[in-house]
Amino acid sequence: MQSFQLNRVPKFVSLYIFVFQLQKMQHFKFIDLFAGIGGFHIAMQSLGGECVFASEIDRYAIDTYKTNFGINAAFDITQVSEHNVPPHDMLCAGFPCQAFSKAGKQNGFDDTRGTLFFDILRILNHHRPKYILLENVRNLVAHDKGRTWQVIHKNLVDLGYLIPSKPIIISPHQIGVPQLRDRVFIPGILKDQTKEKELNIVVPKSKRNTTQSQAATNGKSSADLKITDYEEYVLKAWDEFLQGLNHRVLGFPVWAAEFGQDYNTEQLPRWKQEFIRKNRELYQTNQPHIDRWLTKYNNLKDFVATHRKFEWQAGTSIQSVWDGIIQFRPSGIRVKRPTEFPALVAMVHVPIIGWEKRRISAREAANLQGFPTSYKINPNKQQAYKQFGNSVNVDVVRYIAQQLFKH
Ligand SMILES: C[S@@+](CC[C@H](N)C(=O)[O-])C[C@H]1O[C@@H](n2cnc3c(N)ncnc32)[C@H](O)[C@@H]1O
Repeated sequence: MQSFQLNRVPKFVSLYIFVFQLQKMQHFKFIDLFAGIGGFHIAMQSLGGECVFASEIDRYAIDTYKTNFGINAAFDITQVSEHNVPPHDMLCAGFPCQAFSKAGKQNGFDDTRGTLFFDILRILNHHRPKYILLENVRNLVAHDKGRTWQVIHKNLVDLGYLIPSKPIIISPHQIGVPQLRDRVFIPGILKDQTKEKELNIVVPKSKRNTTQSQAATNGKSSADLKITDYEEYVLKAWDEFLQGLNHRVLGFPVWAAEFGQDYNTEQLPRWKQEFIRKNRELYQTNQPHIDRWLTKYNNLKDFVATHRKFEWQAGTSIQSVWDGIIQFRPSGIRVKRPTEFPALVAMVHVPIIGWEKRRISAREAANLQGFPTSYKINPNKQQAYKQFGNSVNVDVVRYIAQQLFKH
């Protein structure tokens, strides 16, 4: 609707046509491939879309989808003929980032065979819906030295779609949702259905929140969300470690195992040597404090190995572990600033709200992913976290789709 034609008509007429076209969009049909628990579904429905087909192979996700939308999505897309997919105006797919290792040599349609992207292509090829919106992890862009993106782009363009020349990378925090989650979005419109030569999608500049309250959640806590005594003990120890240091900014992961060590590191990779050097230096410049600290905490012997590592990623924005958002990760205990949550991920590291000494609830994960309060969460808690970690952010989908539909 921002076409050059419309740019020439008076504003009120543009507005009228805009509203008219939005109304027109209220009757569009969409399909939801790799549907998960329906992040795309909710966004499309809110823009007037009707889901005519969904496909998903995870049985828990299938259950959640059915409970919420009454649609049986139990189809392995590789086994579904495109002839059996109903006609639609829009194809949505948050496809798994599968290796495109075979792709990229000739950049051709055949090269994508064997990847799930191929299944998207064959459905597009057959149905030619006006709009597409694909989503993937940010790494897709760098994958295989950029060739994966080129293959995807070229194949979609060859099928007749107008695609932004550069991948659109956007995180919910850029549109005011307190979660850092960079993802690639690939919107497209059939070239023969638009007069435009470029598909422009505006991505707001990265704006970080400044207050803790924006990231604060509904504050409701049940006993099972509370961190364990052990976790509290470990975090208390790291907080004390931090408080006693002669400087607060730690631009590298702290590896307590390196304190006081002097073994030769030459055989190790460069990055590791560098971290070790910095840790030993940190020890030397803070030795009295660190020695006292190690003695108090029994040389961290009661700590799980990964909890002897500590990543302070909050800069100077906060002074204490308890003021941050914390994750117990395989790489160590990570503390981030309180203004945004780290990307929710599929299974583990459910974020801990430091100042409430508890993990976020599945409902809060749903909120952070833009799912409405009416959304019925899978009763299996582990599955619920996994599902929201896997899902697309509803607000971001809506944000991109609204712009796409203006074309
Ligand atoms: C990144 S998730 C997409 C999540 C979804 N966008 C949402 O909002 O919940 C990818 C999904 O693709 C599903 N999947 C993987 N292979 C599939 C296949 N062959 N057919 C259908 N779904 C598949 C996975 O089970 C997973 O749920």
